[in-house]
Amino acid sequence: MTKLPFSSATVADTVTVVILVILAVTTSAHALGSGATLAVSFGTGTVCGIVASQPTQRIECYRRGQTIPIDPNINFSSITGGRNFFCGLRSGGYSFLCWDTTDFSSTDFAFKRVYLNYTVRLENLSYGDDQVCATVVGTGSVNCWRVNDQFKLPSASDGFVSISSGFGFSCGILANDSQVQCWGSNTTIANQIQKEFGNMSMKSIVAGGSHVCGLNSTGFVICRGNNDSGQLDVPSNTSAGEFSTLALGESHSCGMRKLNGSVACWGGGGEYSVNVIQGVFFETIVSGSNFTCGLTSMNLSVICWGPGWPNSGGETPLPPVLPGPCNNQSCSGCGVYSQSQRLCSGFGNICKPCLLPVPPVPPPQTPPGPTGSPRPSTSRGLRRGLLAFCIVGSVGAFAGICTIIYCLWTGVCFGKKKVHNSVQPTITRAASSNNGVTSNNSPPSRSCTIRRQGSRLMRRQRSGTSSKHGDRAEEFSLAELAAATNNFSLENKLGAGSFGVVYRGKLTDGREVAIKRGETGSKMKKFQEKESAFDSELAFLSRLHHKHLVRLVGYCEEKDERLLVYEYMKNGALYDHLHDKNNVEKSSSVLNSWKMRIKIALDAARGIEYLHNYAVPPIIHRDIKSSNILLDANWTARVSDFGLSLMGPESDREYRPMKAAGTVGYIDPEYYGLNLLTAKSDVYGLGVVLLELLTGKRAIFKSGDDGRTPISVVDFAVPIIMAGELVKILDSRVGTPEMHEVEAVELMAYSAMHCVHLEGKERLTMADIVANLDRALALFDDSHGSISSGIISIASE
Ligand SMILES: *[C@@H]1O[C@H](CO)[C@@H](O)[C@H](O)[C@H]1NC(C)=O
Ligand SMILES: *[C@@H]1O[C@H](CO)[C@@H](O)[C@H](O)[C@H]1NC(C)=O
Ligand SMILES: *[C@@H]1O[C@H](CO)[C@@H](O)[C@H](O)[C@H]1NC(C)=O
Ligand SMILES: *[C@@H]1O[C@H](CO)[C@@H](O)[C@H](O)[C@H]1NC(C)=O
Ligand SMILES: *[C@@H]1O[C@H](CO)[C@@H](O)[C@H](O)[C@H]1NC(C)=O
Ligand SMILES: *[C@@H]1O[C@H](CO)[C@@H](O)[C@H](O)[C@H]1NC(C)=O
Ligand SMILES: *[C@@H]1O[C@H](CO)[C@@H](O)[C@H](O)[C@H]1NC(C)=O
Ligand SMILES: *[C@@H]1O[C@H](CO)[C@@H](O)[C@H](O)[C@H]1NC(C)=O
Ligand SMILES: *[C@@H]1O[C@H](CO)[C@@H](O)[C@H](O)[C@H]1NC(C)=O
Ligand SMILES: *[C@@H]1O[C@H](CO)[C@@H](O)[C@H](O)[C@H]1NC(C)=O
Ligand SMILES: *[C@@H]1O[C@H](CO)[C@@H](O)[C@H](O)[C@H]1NC(C)=O
Ligand SMILES: *[C@@H]1O[C@H](CO)[C@@H](O)[C@H](O)[C@H]1NC(C)=O
Repeated sequence: MTKLPFSSATVADTVTVVILVILAVTTSAHALGSGATLAVSFGTGTVCGIVASQPTQRIECYRRGQTIPIDPNINFSSITGGRNFFCGLRSGGYSFLCWDTTDFSSTDFAFKRVYLNYTVRLENLSYGDDQVCATVVGTGSVNCWRVNDQFKLPSASDGFVSISSGFGFSCGILANDSQVQCWGSNTTIANQIQKEFGNMSMKSIVAGGSHVCGLNSTGFVICRGNNDSGQLDVPSNTSAGEFSTLALGESHSCGMRKLNGSVACWGGGGEYSVNVIQGVFFETIVSGSNFTCGLTSMNLSVICWGPGWPNSGGETPLPPVLPGPCNNQSCSGCGVYSQSQRLCSGFGNICKPCLLPVPPVPPPQTPPGPTGSPRPSTSRGLRRGLLAFCIVGSVGAFAGICTIIYCLWTGVCFGKKKVHNSVQPTITRAASSNNGVTSNNSPPSRSCTIRRQGSRLMRRQRSGTSSKHGDRAEEFSLAELAAATNNFSLENKLGAGSFGVVYRGKLTDGREVAIKRGETGSKMKKFQEKESAFDSELAFLSRLHHKHLVRLVGYCEEKDERLLVYEYMKNGALYDHLHDKNNVEKSSSVLNSWKMRIKIALDAARGIEYLHNYAVPPIIHRDIKSSNILLDANWTARVSDFGLSLMGPESDREYRPMKAAGTVGYIDPEYYGLNLLTAKSDVYGLGVVLLELLTGKRAIFKSGDDGRTPISVVDFAVPIIMAGELVKILDSRVGTPEMHEVEAVELMAYSAMHCVHLEGKERLTMADIVANLDRALALFDDSHGSISSGIISIASE
């Protein structure tokens, strides 16, 4: 299957190009219908392949002089590329992920999982700017995930066996009579091409910029459309069935010969008929708008050529790429690729392309022969169109995918509005940095960079307007609180927090509370100097109500004493459950399930997200750590100790965030280095907490041969997660995740990894984390689970 992405720089944003879905009964020698192992993301000049001869069939990309190992490092069976994205189908077909290649500052690409369903497996994944489509294993029905709404797609009753999109148009082959039909925003070109194909009977087609080439029913290459650069000039001596795979760009066409794998290109001003491809044999080829890449047969290296390829015509440093997908099915008809076992590392075989017509074998599984008669594919029942279910603005394809996920998730697209106020599309780092992208679907967009001065300003405003002992913060007397805590007795001591010692107490009305008593040290002295601020802050904080925040009930200010009264959290701090030896064996077994740990992570993330995005003014916690995440009687996690940073002791002139910069092991390195406090500092802290939940290790723990070298959980875990060996470091108290849990735990791990990036701008936002963890948690719950193909599956009666 060949997909031909291509685009044009000039109209890049207004017109969608490309794609794919060649569901045709084609003569394609390569991996008939089974997907490719080489793909280009043409907008960014990225070429990616599934690496051969490795324990894991992982993906690696090359872009502008850099090779980029793709994470997650897991097994993929096929990949497909679009303008700014490429997608990979996981081995087994139950899930596919897509990566955004536009982030040039980054050395890895952000990814999103678009599909997961263990019962409905996919194959023949094809991606374009507009949509990703795949067929369902077993039924052959086509599902598409629409990325962009540039094209009006045919109605669902039209049956197409092959669809490919060019510049402002798409063409497909009708299943019933094998004729070409074209449509699109540029009706001129669509009509012209359709007319030129006339009633010709075609087996497959591929679109380029404003031309289309395909194989007719006798295996000849037929090209129609724009001929400005000679792109229709198929070499004159071409014989029937000579070419198997076609790859078209904006103004050029290339074909790979079936028998010896040599490649011929035409059009494009002759710039594609370069020396580097003379005498070289290929396994497959793919084109971008102004370059073409091929996988060489000789040593499976990838070479690219054409004017759009920097240093045109050279071997890329990519490692050897698989010549076809590794699979466990038997290879009907044409045998197995030599060295298949080695290339697949024992994981299945690569089926060899069929060079000669395959004699008909008993139905129902007749592999189509290259010169066989046209078989109107009615038998296949490919009678469905492509469902346009979601309207997406021209904000870039990835945001589009996000929107789809969002739609599916919330049900909004299908009219059954399910309101999840905190579920937002997970927008990637890259997308977030694009202007306007985040605001596309997300609720109150907030600047992530809130300097403390900002909050101080707000504070003044508030203190101006709020009455002295504000709204709902109760004022207690010292005597009351002393009585509640048995005169601050040691037995009632719960621990020590950022502003002093915490006691458990019982008020006269029976309410259980946690009372924090400030030290009467210099810290508190300064604090006291700002009495009015103290009052108004408390009023403000006590008004914050959220089920994942520990509520401030009241306070006491008497003499030199300043006490804060909080809701009591019966099950204590997450830290104790994870790391306190006394606790570990006993009560903490509740935490020894992956579902519970993911739920705790999600609860905490929701609490922090509320502080960042919904509190007015926004609050940056500054000290997210597992000892500040408490568990209530129902084991719901709640974030505590927030807001106090707003009323830190320093005067404006003395403002030095370093002083109050949180806790070793959790401090955002950027905050540390640049003194810039942003919401991403909390993201970092939460990332460390996620890693603690995954590994059961402290933020800083002793390791090494002597067991004495301190190492941070970040330095310990991230490289291992990147290497795809997550399972090696998971907390053994919880145990190896079961089949259905793996995906969820991975999702949490990848989120964690993207929280602890050195640079804040590379990190996820709290909303992203909430969305990811929400998806992870949903995987435990079938009814509400993954992005199911069921929802968008197109009726295929
Ligand atoms: C999808 O791929 C499988 C092999 O993986 C192939 O047998 C099947 O015909 C393909 N389906 C279509 C519609 O091309
Ligand atoms: C990839 O598949 C092989 C063969 O099944 C397996 O041994 C290996 O662990 C897999 N790798 C990953 C990262 O899943
Ligand atoms: C094939 O289908 C198209 C549209 O569905 C219809 O217009 C055309 O008449 C059909 N042709 C035949 C031969 O049935
Ligand atoms: C339609 O496509 C043709 C051929 O590529 C081009 O010349 C023309 O400008 C396009 N029209 C529009 C409206 O984009
Ligand atoms: C295609 O149309 C022409 C007339 O335009 C007709 O002579 C020819 O028989 C048709 N061919 C097929 C295969 O229908
Ligand atoms: C396929 O194209 C070739 C070359 O144009 C032509 O000779 C042949 O008749 C075509 N086959 C069919 C079935 O139209
Ligand atoms: C395409 O253009 C070339 C000149 O660039 C011309 O020689 C050739 O005949 C044209 N081919 C077709 C099919 O119009
Ligand atoms: C490959 O085969 C084609 C015919 O199918 C032939 O014209 C060409 O010369 C061959 N190329 C090489 C490099 O042998
Ligand atoms: C692959 O083979 C080509 C010759 O076809 C050679 O130039 C190149 O260095 C080889 N690459 C690797 C990685 O072995
Ligand atoms: C190739 O196309 C890309 C966009 O797809 C464009 O940015 C680049 O300038 C083009 N290069 C050449 C040499 O035309
Ligand atoms: C625990 O859950 C129950 C039932 O959902 C609820 O009534 C109760 O208030 C919750 N307790 C806490 C401490 O949130
Ligand atoms: C997978 O798809 C099937 C069929 O559409 C659906 O019934 C099932 O609920 C899906 N499973 C999950 C986990 O979404």
